[in-house]
Amino acid sequence: MSDKLLIRALKGERTRPTPFWLMRQAGRYLPEYREIRAKARNFLDFCASPGLTVEATLQPLRRYNMDAAILFSDILVVPHALGQEVSFQEGEGPKLKALCGKDDIARLSIEQFHERLEPSYETLRQLVFAIPESTALIGFAGAPWTVATYMIEGGSSKEFVKAKGWAYRQTADLERLIDLLTEMTAEYLLMQIAAGAEVIQLFDSWAGVLPEEEFRKWSIRPARKIVERLRARCPKVPIIGFPKGAGALYEAYVKETGVDAVSLDSTVPLSWAAKTLQPHAALQGNLDNVLLLAGGEAMERETKRIINILGEGGFVFNLGHGILQQTPPEHVARLADIIREAG
Ligand code: CP3
Repeated sequence: MSDKLLIRALKGERTRPTPFWLMRQAGRYLPEYREIRAKARNFLDFCASPGLTVEATLQPLRRYNMDAAILFSDILVVPHALGQEVSFQEGEGPKLKALCGKDDIARLSIEQFHERLEPSYETLRQLVFAIPESTALIGFAGAPWTVATYMIEGGSSKEFVKAKGWAYRQTADLERLIDLLTEMTAEYLLMQIAAGAEVIQLFDSWAGVLPEEEFRKWSIRPARKIVERLRARCPKVPIIGFPKGAGALYEAYVKETGVDAVSLDSTVPLSWAAKTLQPHAALQGNLDNVLLLAGGEAMERETKRIINILGEGGFVFNLGHGILQQTPPEHVARLADIIREAG
């Protein structure tokens, strides 16, 4: 087994120091990212340029020496690889040509899938040699439900009326789409592991909008299938699940998907998580990303409280959701010092 700190913690070992990385640790809060981002015409082109994505992945490591590097890409490269039109408008977020029903699903194609994702694989192959020896390399994908919401809504959403409408009234269509995404996401992640990813994170950012029965169908079941596929081929690679907003359903997610670790959003109570979840999975999280933006005493207190309560078992320090664009880089430096000083 790897002796990298992050991997030991994800396998359930209590480690000192506490390993850490931060969701969206690369990105627009860093001036050096904004500089190289300007070299690509648009965000998808950026993601398809290993010369730029390798550099973007390394930038936060140079400043803060996190215990993990995460592949620089996006969850929406998967719909693009399936032939759906995807674009990122500056300041507006992602735009997709929304799927309307089974005919649109039938038009998705796996023919160019791996070819279109080749830049992610190449980025990982280069990162294996570019990152420090003690740093773990994380690959990732969006979970089927979260990716499906973007494909159905045509972009970001507040109420998820269309995607949840499919769950309730076009169930067979949603089943077909989720099955396709489950299959192809597993393939994508296996290829990432073959290219050098040592840990996998599955981002189910919108799992929390699903009621219990729907959560089991569209979040837990696909995650379990993906975990089973990866385990069968790569039993040593730890898998982190992130069913953001799942509340009390975090317990079912941990017990029923078989993930090695679960990433907690900032609303999850710490002592409940330590007692209910940590016997079954390592924990990751969960500093409020707005508290990192705010900084100061409050950030220091909360960081120590998290480490005190969750650090008794397998634990990786992280945020409850990605770094916000307005976050001052000095606050991230201070956070890294506090985590290291905590021992
Ligand atoms: O450092 C890292 O964590 C790796 C890179 C990464 C990005 N996106 C880069 C990115 C990762 C892991 C993601 C995952 C992602 N993308 C998720 C799941 C995690 C989460 O935040 O819930 C989701 C839902 C997306 C979809 C997405 N991508 C949206 C809604 C947006 C627009 C909003 C925004 O922040 O701009 C993106 C664009 C995006 N993905 C950017 C970056 C750095 C900004 C685009 C740019 O730099 O021009």
